[in-house]
Amino acid sequence: MSVGANKVQVSGEDLQISVDASTDQQYVDVCGLKIRLARPYELDFEWIGNKGVLHQLQASWFCSRPKEKPMNPRLVGKPGVGKTALAYAAGKFLQVPVYFFQGTADTQPNDLLINPLVVETSADNSKVEYIASTVITAMIVGGVLILDEGNRMQEKAWASLAPLLDSRRYIESISVGLMLKAHPNFRFIATMNDDASCFELPEYIKSRLHPHISLDFPDRSEERRILEVNLPFANSTVLDYVADFLSVARREGEEYTPRDGIHIANYASKLLDYDKFCGRTSDPGDNVIRAVEQILGIRQSRFMKQILWKEKAA
Ligand SMILES: Nc1ncnc2c1ncn2[C@@H]1O[C@H](COP(=O)(O)OP(=O)(O)OP(=O)(O)O)[C@@H](O)[C@H]1O
Ligand SMILES: [Mg+2]
Repeated sequence: MSVGANKVQVSGEDLQISVDASTDQQYVDVCGLKIRLARPYELDFEWIGNKGVLHQLQASWFCSRPKEKPMNPRLVGKPGVGKTALAYAAGKFLQVPVYFFQGTADTQPNDLLINPLVVETSADNSKVEYIASTVITAMIVGGVLILDEGNRMQEKAWASLAPLLDSRRYIESISVGLMLKAHPNFRFIATMNDDASCFELPEYIKSRLHPHISLDFPDRSEERRILEVNLPFANSTVLDYVADFLSVARREGEEYTPRDGIHIANYASKLLDYDKFCGRTSDPGDNVIRAVEQILGIRQSRFMKQILWKEKAA
């Protein structure tokens, strides 16, 4: 740790993390400044299939020599295709804490750094605590930071991340006078939609976010397993139909995502369960048609009707 004119320079790996026994909250002390760390995100989740993209992502983070630096990949795909899920799975594979930062149009540069917060300690007393963002926390503990939907963030928010995303690997928090170098285990990934509802990234940021990894749709058998993992209680005939529906619709050029499939299968299965609860019997295929109509639209159910006609004709 070194102290410049007014600025403390410190590396994440040199900081001692302490834990408050009563709250289980982690803190670090930087020259008398007590900073509260963010909590990692814990998700019971299994990534299915598409091992190719998972390996590309892992390779871009891989470092086998002492001074080798990881890359900062950009994961791009349609909304609901599984970008966040893939980034999380890759992070968990490294067996380090995984943190999220959700990019929004209102994200301010300081939201990514360290902010003072007034905490009430009793009826008449309060104290100032410094709160580290998930970005800063991941840099200190040597975790993975998933900057989710980064393309929704404006340029001024990205600007503070520029030195972190090149070989310097540091961030400067002017408000607390701290220059923090990332722990060598720190890994970064930005996920982005390829729709038009987002800001175009500034060129100097784009040039730091490489490689560009595209996530595409899973095939029929992967999709069936994705549905099953995400909806373990759903009716298995419903899951089969929804996997068929997605694969037929995609062959016809429609771009329904795994998230659409999960919603359809979830609703169709609930319709079936509720009918059973009410003492009625209903057909899984009819419920999938109803779910498609109410989730994607009336016209979209034609693919499911085709599947049922073919089944009856066979
Ligand atoms: N390969 C997969 N294995 C397991 N679950 C998956 C897989 N792909 C997608 N999913 C599931 O699909 C849903 C949508 O995925 P996710 O939220 O990661 O999409 P996204 O691309 O990040 O969407 P958005 O752009 O809207 O943020 C989640 O419930 C996720 O668990
Ligand atoms: Mg996402």
